[in-house]
Amino acid sequence: MVKKVFIKTFGCQMNERDSEIMSQILSTHGYAESHDMESADLVILNTCTIRAKAEQKVMSMLGALRKIKVQRPGMKICVAGCVAQQEGDHLLQRMPHVDLVLGTQNIYDLGTYIDRVAGTDRPVVATTMSKAFRIPAFLPADRKNSEPADELYSFKRFVTIMQGCDNYCSYCVVPYTRGREISRRAQDVVEEVRKLVAQGVREVTLLGQNVNSYGRKLNGTALPCTFPELLHQVAEIRGLQRLRFTTSHPKDLSDELIGCFRDIAILCPQFHLPVQSGSDAVLKRMNRHYTIANYLERVEALFSCRPDLALTTDIIVGFPGETDDDFALTMDLLERVRFHGSFSFKYSDRPGVRSCDFDGKISEEVKSERLAIFQRRQDEISLARNSAYVGSLLEIMIERTSENAFQGRTGTNHIVHVDEKTDLAPGDLLEVEIVHAGQHSLKGKVDSMH
Ligand code: 5AD
Ligand code: SF4
Repeated sequence: MVKKVFIKTFGCQMNERDSEIMSQILSTHGYAESHDMESADLVILNTCTIRAKAEQKVMSMLGALRKIKVQRPGMKICVAGCVAQQEGDHLLQRMPHVDLVLGTQNIYDLGTYIDRVAGTDRPVVATTMSKAFRIPAFLPADRKNSEPADELYSFKRFVTIMQGCDNYCSYCVVPYTRGREISRRAQDVVEEVRKLVAQGVREVTLLGQNVNSYGRKLNGTALPCTFPELLHQVAEIRGLQRLRFTTSHPKDLSDELIGCFRDIAILCPQFHLPVQSGSDAVLKRMNRHYTIANYLERVEALFSCRPDLALTTDIIVGFPGETDDDFALTMDLLERVRFHGSFSFKYSDRPGVRSCDFDGKISEEVKSERLAIFQRRQDEISLARNSAYVGSLLEIMIERTSENAFQGRTGTNHIVHVDEKTDLAPGDLLEVEIVHAGQHSLKGKVDSMH
């Protein structure tokens, strides 16, 4: 009989991709994905520990699972990803109902570990991290192992091109939970995308913690290849209609990469360039290796290559020692760049990172205040930026359809809702006229255009 696995993914797109890989591995071990946690034979929490809040969410879900497992002792619980990597054995002391602790480099061996925990009550911890780790060459990339099939999954997918990070920003736990930076071979990436496109995929997002340093440390024997070169190779795959990537570190953003936005037609006009703070003094303590002047110069170069680009960023407020003046500089930067959108967070200490030991910790109250001020202004700017699209024609890729409405996404990554019938299917491209703008989405129409 087919067993059921419920997978809950926390955190970033890398984790989403890792969850797909785990699901695909499990499909060859007799499991199909299910959307019901309570009746599942196996529950996997693919976890994130980037900020304290992310980790708290995982812990509270594990608490809830403890009660379910009392009712259904045969259920197996696996904690995978960054919390697993960070906690290892300790997790079992706090959460003895967990059966498998699976680190970030160990997910590829999930099949072996699942077989090992089946039929025993002895928990297994697999969190080894090795300098010699290599991302397996051809990752499984078949259809999603779930019913009903996910509409989005049929035409848009993530492809991991590298793993880990060597930057050691002073606040960040990623180099510890995901290990040293390692790139996949370009030919493997191209082959995987080709395989996806042959299955009907039309949009691909290339993933890495810092794609700009792609190719510096290659996975096994390979010809040297930079990230812009990789983009060109992937873009040549016939049938691929949209190409995106994330994330970029400002210190490594080269002219060649910026030039790709001019030269590669299918590269979408969307760029995520985390700045973290508007203060040079804070950036220095964050170990970011750029100044605001450098950042602004790169932003200008980007917009001169691609004026219709939508730029987004990440911001941390309340970094240790952040003064009112430092925060005012972050607000100044927001006014100067007018980001299309941003992800903003209150600083939180993470285990083992350097900033834990920094003086000048900021109170929760001040952090919350600064975050609210930043987010309020960002919302206004996003709305103003979105309003500028009203009246223009934008191409969308259809994502979901219903009887009398559909929605799609622009190249700039904005969602557009259209209250009309359509004969088109998810994955099809269509031009729409934007008629209304909200902070987080747009409304469009098609009927009067024809
Ligand atoms: N506290 C708050 N935010 C953090 N980020 C990373 N580490 C921390 C931390 N300790 C944010 C950064 C990063 C994003 C993914 O998460 O803004 O770009
Ligand atoms: Fe963390 Fe900095 Fe690496 Fe991004 S570049 S994953 S913020 S250490």
